Amino acid sequence: MPTTKRDTIFSAVTGAVADRLSQRQALRPVPESVRIDGRTCLVTGANSGLGKAVAVDLAKRGGRVLMACRGGHPDAGEEVRRLSGSDAVAMLKVDLADLRSVQALCNRLEREVERLDIVVLNAGVMPRTARRSAQGYELMFAVHFLANRLLIDRLLASGTIRQGNRPGKTPRIVLVASEAHRSAGPIDFDHFGAFTDYGLRDGLKHYGMSKLHLCTYAQELSRRLNPGGEVRVAVTSLCPGAVNSNLAREAPTLLKPLLYPIMRIFFAAPEKAAAPVTYACCAEDLEQRSGVYLHLMQGKKPSALAMDERAGKRLWEKSAALLARHVEGGSADVSGSMSHQPHGDA
Ligand SMILES: NC(=O)c1ccc[n+]([C@@H]2O[C@H](COP(=O)([O-])OP(=O)(O)OC[C@H]3O[C@@H](n4cnc5c(N)ncnc54)[C@H](OP(=O)(O)O)[C@@H]3O)[C@@H](O)[C@H]2O)c1
Repeated sequence: MPTTKRDTIFSAVTGAVADRLSQRQALRPVPESVRIDGRTCLVTGANSGLGKAVAVDLAKRGGRVLMACRGGHPDAGEEVRRLSGSDAVAMLKVDLADLRSVQALCNRLEREVERLDIVVLNAGVMPRTARRSAQGYELMFAVHFLANRLLIDRLLASGTIRQGNRPGKTPRIVLVASEAHRSAGPIDFDHFGAFTDYGLRDGLKHYGMSKLHLCTYAQELSRRLNPGGEVRVAVTSLCPGAVNSNLAREAPTLLKPLLYPIMRIFFAAPEKAAAPVTYACCAEDLEQRSGVYLHLMQGKKPSALAMDERAGKRLWEKSAALLARHVEGGSADVSGSMSHQPHGDA
């Protein structure tokens, strides 16, 4: 992979700070008075950083919030309940680095949840060096893309996410990506899903590539769900900008004394960084628009590579073939079932 302007730690940090300082807010944050009572929301990676702030915000607005998190966070649900003042918060366990665990989460959601109105695919990871997921894929490819593809396929196929276009009822899928997707070169479809070993120096390149997979997926998903421009599911991808979160927890120990103060001073607090996610989840403006990409509070186009329809189709087909190896009963490509679902809200 060639080196580009955002794939070293130094350039990523300076770029993120510059973005933050230069942002003029084009979109207004959604006022606290906007409510989502009666809506059920799933947020992945909701125990930390951005995901936790989003969970608190959605719960404060009256949403029923399901926090899909790894084990080891026994107090996270209680904390979100306390911070939001809402009891309509529940924890569900999932390890997105294991497709069996994603399947188990889907089984549970399909059994126990009548309908999901808002799905925020937020969980993210930045490993220090290459690691494998349970099924042997590169960890970020697995967590940022493949797990999300499976989750959404299953929830659409089962009707847990119901396609509909009645005002105020359009389901929303929000994918937390990153501007780092712009640093990635074209996806190598000849070696799609193949594990590549990398060391400390190349982690950000692979992070950018995994987010390009996610952004390309978001565009393709939006096209497939909303043929002819009628919005039945609003798909939004976004970059929250630089967030003072736990994402850099695997940064080299020697770098942390420098990195952490910079993050504290220049990166946004998760509660502030959550504004574009809230916008994607709650703004009326996005009720009937899909395929939107937000960078902070500005609408933008994702990279030309992410918008490329041919790449989107190949990504869709190649990832369906990968998932079919792991999903009981054959192919996981449920694109056909998308158009057969009942419309509207039952
Ligand atoms: N921080 C930034 O500057 C920045 C910039 C652009 C985009 N983003 C994106 O924002 C999103 C949120 O990240 P953050 O900054 O809030 O970082 P964070 O505080 O580290 O939160 C990441 C969340 O993802 C969860 N997660 C990681 N691997 C998982 C797995 N295998 N299964 C289930 N959950 C898993 C983490 O769970 P554990 O606590 O159990 O590890 C944690 O809850 C990510 O998608 C990230 O790429 C962040």
